[in-house]
Amino acid sequence: MGGLARLEYRGYDSAGIAVGATQSLTVVKAVGKLANLTSELDTVGPLEGRAAIGHTRWATHGQPTTANAHPHTSLDGDLALVHNGIIENATQLHASLLAEGYTFVSDTDTEVVAHLLAREFLADSEDGDTVGHGVEIEGVPEDAAGTAGALARAMNRVMSQLDGAFTLLAMHAEAPGVIVAARRSSPLVIGLGKNENFLGSDALAFSEHTQRALEVGQDELVVVTPTAVTIIGVEGEPATKKFLEIDFAHDRVTKDGWPTFMEKEINEQPRAIADTLADRLDAEGYLTLDELRIPSEVLRTVDKVIIIACGTAAYAGHVARYAIEHWCRIPVEVELAHEFRYRDPVVNEKTLVVAVSQSGETMDTIMAIRHAREQGARVVAVVNTPGSTISRESDAVLLTHAGPEIAVASTKAFTAQITATYILGLYLAQVRGNKYIDEIQDYLDKLSEIPGKVSEVLKRGELVRMTARTLVDENSVIYLGRHVGFPVALEGALKLKEIAYIHAEGFAAGELKHGPIALIEEGQVVIIIVPTPRRPELHRKVVSNIQEVRARGARTIVVAEDGDESVNEFAETVFRVPPTPTLYAPLLAVVPLQVFACELATAKGLDVDQPRNLAKSVTVE
Ligand code: G6P
Repeated sequence: MGGLARLEYRGYDSAGIAVGATQSLTVVKAVGKLANLTSELDTVGPLEGRAAIGHTRWATHGQPTTANAHPHTSLDGDLALVHNGIIENATQLHASLLAEGYTFVSDTDTEVVAHLLAREFLADSEDGDTVGHGVEIEGVPEDAAGTAGALARAMNRVMSQLDGAFTLLAMHAEAPGVIVAARRSSPLVIGLGKNENFLGSDALAFSEHTQRALEVGQDELVVVTPTAVTIIGVEGEPATKKFLEIDFAHDRVTKDGWPTFMEKEINEQPRAIADTLADRLDAEGYLTLDELRIPSEVLRTVDKVIIIACGTAAYAGHVARYAIEHWCRIPVEVELAHEFRYRDPVVNEKTLVVAVSQSGETMDTIMAIRHAREQGARVVAVVNTPGSTISRESDAVLLTHAGPEIAVASTKAFTAQITATYILGLYLAQVRGNKYIDEIQDYLDKLSEIPGKVSEVLKRGELVRMTARTLVDENSVIYLGRHVGFPVALEGALKLKEIAYIHAEGFAAGELKHGPIALIEEGQVVIIIVPTPRRPELHRKVVSNIQEVRARGARTIVVAEDGDESVNEFAETVFRVPPTPTLYAPLLAVVPLQVFACELATAKGLDVDQPRNLAKSVTVE
């Protein structure tokens, strides 16, 4: 249950476990958050067993109901299965199983696999515990060896019948200490303990128990017992074990006295930015990115950068675009990963793809990376989760050191992503000779002042919270920004949608008069991100935009620099941020917007950390 709690970021609309004791499997499920399953287990009483599988769900096929929750079982109840991903040929398989007389109690694609596995298991005519090319399964007690072998062989045959992405874990009543697993395009890692082993969608699931972990390769099959792990390759051959480096300090995944993870993470931003910036200069003052294993010659030939990401990470990419284009004079495109993949984008060996992802597990982004690499592009991953799929599948990794982010709505990962992509931009400028070393040092010096300034913004949170509490009954909030303030407006609006369930839209301030201004009526709340007055050509125009909405009855909340008095006349409320260079302003301006959304959702009595319908990491396409 502890492991499941750590994986709840992947989905939390229902959950279930199966525990294998001698000759019987007990399955317990509950709709809603994991706490409901805990209560359900309390009523069942203590369960004993030698192995268990568990799952926390984000509904794809079928509503979040108990029947649709995993584990799913075979008709005889002897076999239990959990699944992540989507089986794309489930409809066809379902039809053929129905024709064979199988009946279904759920609407899921997973139940189809449970029946297929049971069918293959029963059809298995071989003896013993060998799979494929005679690979012997280790650590299985003699009385369970036949069942374990049959289950592994059945899984092997089932895999060849499935299309799509999946991680599958199965157990059988007659081999209660054995778990058979398989993966294709969905993640699975193994944790190695002493007389106990673990399987998880990511290492965080078992980081409390062990930090020794193994990767499971594409299409590999695994048999895990308390004492042994057997990994079998695509062709049924013994697979080499690949150890994974993980360095999660599991004690960081607590609220540390904060009421919610989101508040804690908002307040961790000074440290997240500072840690992401740390140790980037060599003795001579050059920016060094050891982890960027792409030779400088290759970086010098890059003629286009494409940033791919989803959600908040994509907005961080939009911010980065302004900086990288300005510093490196290379065209930068920013694209949602799911759109990029299917657009037939122009990508070649001279394209540098930057994939930004907090989790490193977003399936849309993974697919986009694969597509880009097939076309010859080099991929740099900016990820927050060491050892994640995206970090493993990219040519190079630039880690954001934000620490585990638990709240579904991303905050500290966003500012850490901007910081990391800026470092990448400055590095490219250095390697390509667009900037002199002293100029780069100057940019980095100013960037290193940002954590202190973010702390200052956080100290001023009370005005933001007070304002938020007055707006709990709003149905719509509009956010406006220009230049780097535009993606900040988009991110501010996303935060409000995600956790406060208020319809919010971010617009480019210049676009206002081309349509959105029609939405403005008496009392409409508009939040405007104002650029520094030291960029008068930008500043002037945004101040005009505030006047335009104000003239039409809007209630204006303005994010502006200390000392910028020109906004006072047109703003109902001003959230102040310390003066900072234009390109760094998003790192400050987004903070009051995060605090605002968090407080508003809290005041509405909503679950800030786990908003409805969402998952922190979307592991299906
Ligand atoms: C989901 C989350 C968002 C997140 C996005 C990208 O939609 O709810 O908060 O920004 O995925 O996630 P990633 O882990 O790739 O940054």
